[in-house]
Amino acid sequence: MDKVAKLEIDGKVHELPIVVGSEGERGIDISALRQATGCITLDDGYGNTGSCQSNITFIDGEKGILRYRGIPIEVLAEKSFFIETAYLLIYGYLPTHKELRRFSELLTQNEMLHEDLKFHFEGFPAHAHPMAILSSMINATSCFVPGVLDAYDPTVFESQAARLLAKVRTIAAFAYRKSRGLPIMYPKPVYKYTANFLHMMFSEPYQDYDLNPEVVKALDLIFVLHADHEQNCSTATVRMIASSQANIFACAAGGVCALWGPLHGGANQAVIEMLEQIHRDGDDGSKFIAAAKDKKSGKRLMGFGHRVYKNYDPRAKIIKAQCDKVLGLLKISDPLLDIAKRLEAAALHDSYFVERKLYPNVDFYSGIIMRAIGIPLEMFTVMFAIGRMPGWIANYKEVMDATNGRISRPRQIYTGPTEQPYVSIDKRGKK
Ligand code: CMC
Repeated sequence: MDKVAKLEIDGKVHELPIVVGSEGERGIDISALRQATGCITLDDGYGNTGSCQSNITFIDGEKGILRYRGIPIEVLAEKSFFIETAYLLIYGYLPTHKELRRFSELLTQNEMLHEDLKFHFEGFPAHAHPMAILSSMINATSCFVPGVLDAYDPTVFESQAARLLAKVRTIAAFAYRKSRGLPIMYPKPVYKYTANFLHMMFSEPYQDYDLNPEVVKALDLIFVLHADHEQNCSTATVRMIASSQANIFACAAGGVCALWGPLHGGANQAVIEMLEQIHRDGDDGSKFIAAAKDKKSGKRLMGFGHRVYKNYDPRAKIIKAQCDKVLGLLKISDPLLDIAKRLEAAALHDSYFVERKLYPNVDFYSGIIMRAIGIPLEMFTVMFAIGRMPGWIANYKEVMDATNGRISRPRQIYTGPTEQPYVSIDKRGKK
């Protein structure tokens, strides 16, 4: 295999090394290009830019493959659970009984919030979006962690990561309770991670939430499926912040903000809003599909398309199958599921979507399960954030452990005015 690429600029040929990944993907190393040629590369949206070498998650978008640390997502979805998958992502291998027990205990020890943090929730208006609260409160949590501003220490990492992973679901549940004017429910150490989250969301001081094992399993699976996805917008953001040596809470808070947008994690909320709109309009889906194909409409078929997958997103396949199963078990008939299936069938036979290789992504069906298990719409993207936390932590660790790490600092091609004089205020506006 060719290990060098040749690039001719101004009549001179430059050799650029080719880096080969463990799955055979190839990248041209251009790190010395500017020094040698004066040129940089330009790649709007980073569609062809590898920002790092990573051994955490592998995706083959053409074949629809997703693996965490080499293990296929289908296998993890069937055999693993969120906290075990989190361990796998963060530490690189599946834990033994002892390691898993220790990790779970660490999470339990860290599940409470400092009492003073509770008052911060009071400062948000009643209808604040929980993603805004989540991001702010993750950052605020760092104020209560001793030594958080000290230089990265691998021996302290474990406890900080456990704090973050444990507290994110407490913060998320508190944010929801606050937004509904409901009393805060404290975590219960007897519950496992996902059950505990549902308890904090839905129990009342006078009555414990009835934990249906199928509901717990369905949400846990959603967390597993969202746990990492290589260099997506939010993970790349986390790595970018980590490269400045910021602390793990600052990095995760930034990740939450990047995830919030409707083109990224916010798509799960946008999908349900779209399906509800179609339902209200009595549209059989065809009007919406036509609008999604018309660039001037400003509409997109939410939950469709992906930067990397040019095939069916493997997570969407698992979630679609789960949708039927969970709704069946809970005896729920949701008209939005029928609309979603109709839209999918129509899009997969429409040349616009076929030619552009636009398939359902993870967000297309996940919202329907979340609705069925009682997660409120405004919390959907928060579920994504809780699920993605192990991936962010693993990527943070990878950046901090790297011995040759540099601050992430892209360049640009400047297109503004060339040097011009400063005009005093009384002379401005005159031609
Ligand atoms: N509906 C209609 N047209 C679309 C869609 C869509 N959902 N997605 C892409 N296109 C078109 C796009 O207009 C463009 O057409 P043309 O070549 O004629 O200009 C072409 O397909 C390529 O799209 P792109 O915007 O260049 O693709 P991208 O890789 O930059 O964007 C995406 C990927 C996920 C942001 C985009 O597909 C999208 O906006 N999808 C809807 C939002 C969504 O579901 N996001 C969740 C992504 S999966 C979960 C996650 O990782 O966060």
